[in-house]
Amino acid sequence: MKILTVVGARPQFVKAAAVSRILREEHTEVLVHTGQHYDERMSEVFFRELGIPEPDYNLEVGSAGHSVQTGEMLIRMEPVFLQEKPDWVLVYGDTNSPLAGALVASKLHIPVAHVEAGLRSFNREMPEEINRVLTDHVSELLFCPAQKAADNLKLESVTSGVHVVGDVMYDAVLRHSVAAEKNSTILTSLELKSEQYLLATVHRASNVDDTNKLLSILETFATLGETVVLPVHPRTRKAIETAGVTLGKNVKLVEPVSYLDMLWLEKNARMILTDSGGVQKEAYWFGTPCITLREETEWVETVEAGWNVVVGTRRERILNAVRDVSPPAARPNLFGDGTASQNIVRLLESERK
Ligand code: UD1
Ligand code: UDP
Repeated sequence: MKILTVVGARPQFVKAAAVSRILREEHTEVLVHTGQHYDERMSEVFFRELGIPEPDYNLEVGSAGHSVQTGEMLIRMEPVFLQEKPDWVLVYGDTNSPLAGALVASKLHIPVAHVEAGLRSFNREMPEEINRVLTDHVSELLFCPAQKAADNLKLESVTSGVHVVGDVMYDAVLRHSVAAEKNSTILTSLELKSEQYLLATVHRASNVDDTNKLLSILETFATLGETVVLPVHPRTRKAIETAGVTLGKNVKLVEPVSYLDMLWLEKNARMILTDSGGVQKEAYWFGTPCITLREETEWVETVEAGWNVVVGTRRERILNAVRDVSPPAARPNLFGDGTASQNIVRLLESERK
């Protein structure tokens, strides 16, 4: 079986690494990197650390507005798909890269398999929500991390090819946590002590491109009275520089960290404040309480379990959550048992046309 995998942005490298390892035991994988993320710390470091093979194609699309970026991906992908003639095109998550991969494949009548299908924020102003809906609706195999995602698809009358397989990011956390503990020196190099700092990430367009929201978040961090480690996404660094924000003395702004360093930072943080999708789940798996700096989340299971509080970007709400959050002792397996990648490969094999 020949699988063409499309990746392009940081979270996809983590997800694809988990599946690719199993896929390549018995099948051929052609890896296409759209080039959506290209800084060494946003891309290459993940390939190195997670042992992902060199991409067979790097389309070097780079940064641009949504239409230009997605359009360039479409233009540059089509000849690759035509030449490679894969049995499946495999796409991950909700960025512009999987949408482009899914569109090109479906127009060429190559079946699409979508990992992390069925996630919904029900906020159509999020570019990711549009990407998710469109990708799901042209996919033949839809791999859901949990039952709720399959229920979301049912509400849109998507029922064929839907499988609840678990979350490949959980597979990745289980696989790499030991290496993170053994190899990461991030706590020493940032002079941090376990449980004595907060970890934050902010990159969502709605938070970063709106200067008032970004200011509200960063000014609130400055008043938290404890160390806040902020590995900064390039989008956010640019916005901070443009707005001329002065950060609180307690805020440690650092370059984006590698995956293993990030896992170790997450595990040892007293609490995590984030607008990331993946980081909310990783917080849950490590048993680190999470505060989500958005008005809604796709990962509602973590909220229902009492480990994640969705607060938006207003100062009072963030401060109250940091003060009051107190998760229960129980942390059930919400997103499978760490075998999502195996489940996906078996289904690709059995559903092959
Ligand atoms: C993208 C995804 C978002 C995902 C995030 C993961 C879309 C619409 N958004 O957001 O869903 O959560 O990736 O991190 O696909 N930049 C660099 N170097 C890089 C990459 C980006 O400097 O290697 C800067 C550029 O100024 C660029 C900006 O970051 O314009 C935004 O990058 P882009 O890939 O468009 O969106 P993300 O914010 O990364
Ligand atoms: N991540 C990382 N270094 C960082 C920030 C995030 O390795 O500095 C990892 C994080 O652990 C998770 C993934 O990147 O596995 C999430 O990516 P991101 O937050 O950019 O995207 P989202 O999940 O919101 O789409």
